[in-house]
Amino acid sequence: MINIAVLGCGTVGSGVIKLLAQNSETIALRGGEPISLKWVLELDKEKCETAGVADGAIAASFDDILNDEEIDIVVELIGGLEPAFSFITAAMKKGKHIVTANKDLIAVKGKEIFEIAEANQVDFYFEASVAGGIPIISPLKQALAGNRIQQVIGILNGTTNYILTKMSQEGRAFDDVLAEAQKLGYAEADPSADVEGLDAARKIAILSSIAFNSRVTLDDVYVEGITKITPADIKYADELGFIVKLLAIGKETDGQIQTRVHPAFLPKDHPLAAVNDVFNAVFVQGDAVGEIMHFGRGAGQMPTASSVMGDIIEIVRNIRQQTNGRIGCTCYEDKQALSIDCLAAQFYIRMTVTDRPGVLAGIAGVFGNHNVSLATVLQKTSQENMAELILITHEVKERDLRDALIVLKEMSIVTAINNVIRLEGVQRTEI
Ligand code: HSE
Repeated sequence: MINIAVLGCGTVGSGVIKLLAQNSETIALRGGEPISLKWVLELDKEKCETAGVADGAIAASFDDILNDEEIDIVVELIGGLEPAFSFITAAMKKGKHIVTANKDLIAVKGKEIFEIAEANQVDFYFEASVAGGIPIISPLKQALAGNRIQQVIGILNGTTNYILTKMSQEGRAFDDVLAEAQKLGYAEADPSADVEGLDAARKIAILSSIAFNSRVTLDDVYVEGITKITPADIKYADELGFIVKLLAIGKETDGQIQTRVHPAFLPKDHPLAAVNDVFNAVFVQGDAVGEIMHFGRGAGQMPTASSVMGDIIEIVRNIRQQTNGRIGCTCYEDKQALSIDCLAAQFYIRMTVTDRPGVLAGIAGVFGNHNVSLATVLQKTSQENMAELILITHEVKERDLRDALIVLKEMSIVTAINNVIRLEGVQRTEI
């Protein structure tokens, strides 16, 4: 019998408890031992009652769990940095294995946690921390371990994918769709971590660390959210053959890693372009496997519980074989993190300018002087002597584009630079 303790009986915690009760026989067969839920740590007793936790299994404090030598696995589903970090590290020092869904903690404290896990020969598993129910951490560490991973591109936030999908399909504005998503319970009351890209940034930091075997923390990730995307940008994207998605991107080139989260123009025929609503997906390119994509629900009670339970079963197998600590930290190397300034990309630029002879030539001249070559130029509307220019550049350096835009902003013929959005996935390499 393997005894587990669940910390936190919220949405995911109660999902794990439900799944364990629902599939207990199959879970016991797959792990090789029955699993018993011995303790639940939760201040809100009502939540425990709703999840069907017996009174006697509700711990008075974390010490009940820490000092119980029969507890083999601690499942941390509280979230946030503290007290989760203290609980996890104290439990590992007592020889207990850990399963968590806590992306905030791993993206910031991953190195420290893995060192403590290794020193204490315990398992630390965290499949549910990225993309909820989609298996991606375990595949990267195991089935794909023979590859050099070139890129990992994810739609890793359901809230923003829902908002962008509605904006694209219904031509509505960001604020309008966000308000509706909040009303429907798809978006948090405080949606900033989602819409500003931070949630996706934590997830791509974790995936990049694993894919490229070098520690990437939240601070290394360039982050831009979706709040400035307008129906006009989405309409022009559509006309030009693209769809706007919030992408979380990790790439390794010549031993250097670039990680970024930002809205992007994605070709409509890219596999990620078909990922709509609250769904998540992770597109991986490896030198042997080529292109693959993992798709599914990136959040929600039972999908996330599915990942947590998979980790618990894996640890039970390890306990039975006495092989804990087998797959620990995979950051064997120390690769340089590249700043966004070094990015070479194609860009979409939407600007409002004065509509008179010579204006286009003047603007093209500024781009040319900064090594920014234009691939497409469209003049979309013209009223009261103003024109809206839609430009797509060839691949240019981010730094060069930024310098050109600084000059353009100061010119009297430029009324506004309305938006600048990177293109992604335009030339996918055949392997
Ligand atoms: N808030 C996240 C999302 C789920 O909208 O996808 C938890 O990471």
